[in-house]
Amino acid sequence: MEAIVAVFSDWGIGSEGTQQVVLKADRAHFRELTKDAAVIVGRRTLADFPGGKPLKGRSNIVVTRQDIAIEGAEVAHSTEEALSLAAKYPRTLVIGGASIYRQFLPYLDLVHVTQMRASFILFLNRNPFAHLIKE
Ligand SMILES: NC(=O)c1ccc[n+]([C@@H]2O[C@H](COP(=O)([O-])OP(=O)(O)OC[C@H]3O[C@@H](n4cnc5c(N)ncnc54)[C@H](OP(=O)(O)O)[C@@H]3O)[C@@H](O)[C@H]2O)c1
Repeated sequence: MEAIVAVFSDWGIGSEGTQQVVLKADRAHFRELTKDAAVIVGRRTLADFPGGKPLKGRSNIVVTRQDIAIEGAEVAHSTEEALSLAAKYPRTLVIGGASIYRQFLPYLDLVHVTQMRASFILFLNRNPFAHLIKE
């Protein structure tokens, strides 16, 4: 199984439930690599997606301990359940967040890492530099 992650200079991946810096080129890379694949995603990361909705054109497996249904996604209540749901797909990528990367690490053969030369002081506001960075 594969994973894809974007990291800052200090290997941080975001905080407060979001990614403070997003590069257009990296988003395109993400779309290309995950196209038509299954993705395993934590419920908190899903909440940060546009509209809080699963990604289109991918088979979304959302990991949560809650007893909820999510339109456009399969729900898994444990890592084991997520792995078993993923088994029917030819290709699955783990797409975060932090707790999900940590728990799925033992099952990963390949991790696609984009490292951005960016670091920032958190808590100035939620997204201090995004308006400055285009590429
Ligand atoms: N830089 C990147 O490439 C990248 C990619 C993705 C995410 N991120 C960042 O990562 C951060 C989010 O990470 P996070 O650790 O807070 O949240 P997360 O991993 O996205 O989701 C955590 C949630 O997943 C569920 N969960 C986790 N382990 C589980 C298990 N074993 N069984 C059942 N459910 C389980 C729980 O949902 P319930 O609370 O519903 O039970 C838990 O609250 C955000 O800042 C986001 O922007 C960065």
